[in-house]
Amino acid sequence: MRFDVVTIFPEFFDTLDISLLGRARRGGTVSWTIHDLRDHTHDRHRTVDDTPYGGGAGMVMRPEPWGEALDGILDGADDPLVIFPSPAGEVFSQAMARELSAESHLVFGCGRYEGIDQRVFDHTAARARTRLVSIGDYVLNGGEVAVVAMLEAIIRLVPGVVGNPESLVEESHEAGLLEYPSYTKPKEWRGLSVPDVLLSGNHGAIADWRHAASEERTRRVRPDLLPPS
Ligand code: ADE
Repeated sequence: MRFDVVTIFPEFFDTLDISLLGRARRGGTVSWTIHDLRDHTHDRHRTVDDTPYGGGAGMVMRPEPWGEALDGILDGADDPLVIFPSPAGEVFSQAMARELSAESHLVFGCGRYEGIDQRVFDHTAARARTRLVSIGDYVLNGGEVAVVAMLEAIIRLVPGVVGNPESLVEESHEAGLLEYPSYTKPKEWRGLSVPDVLLSGNHGAIADWRHAASEERTRRVRPDLLPPS
């Protein structure tokens, strides 16, 4: 699986080389290239933004560097999916991460300032599948942190990246419920003990307890995830 990211802050993506994702890249399961948008400017100041037509606060990213950067990635590419992180996009979820983990080539375009000139989206959508995606209802300074979060959620679902695929099955959001609480050694810690059922060796009882704990937690913290009763 291949990823391309266009950004004016390539350093944001240095962290991807740490831990699991770095191991997946070194093992050849996934590959990514980070492109500096400013390499596609042709003025002394490497300008990527300008004032908005129609007035208003903030700056808008000019279309020309974007056009050149995306040409270099999309020309000749085999059915890529282009994602622009944006608070105005559809909301990212575990279901979307799973869907995207089945793609072969994802391209992320990170906007900054007040956004990217609309013609970049329109031109891109005319030549490739294009989606605007938000990681939640809050505003970041740019798309970089959103893309790091999405990449981590997507790459860990690529077959072969997480050593034990069973660990992906029971986690939060996979079954429509939040994950149950986990415990490890010691049995007693600062006066707090591990629930007896987890020490019982009774696998049926343990599964029932975990399911009930998941439901209770979901009802308390995220009732919106439960089907209407
Ligand atoms: N850029 C700024 N805020 C964002 C958000 N919430 N999700 C994705 N991209 C963003």
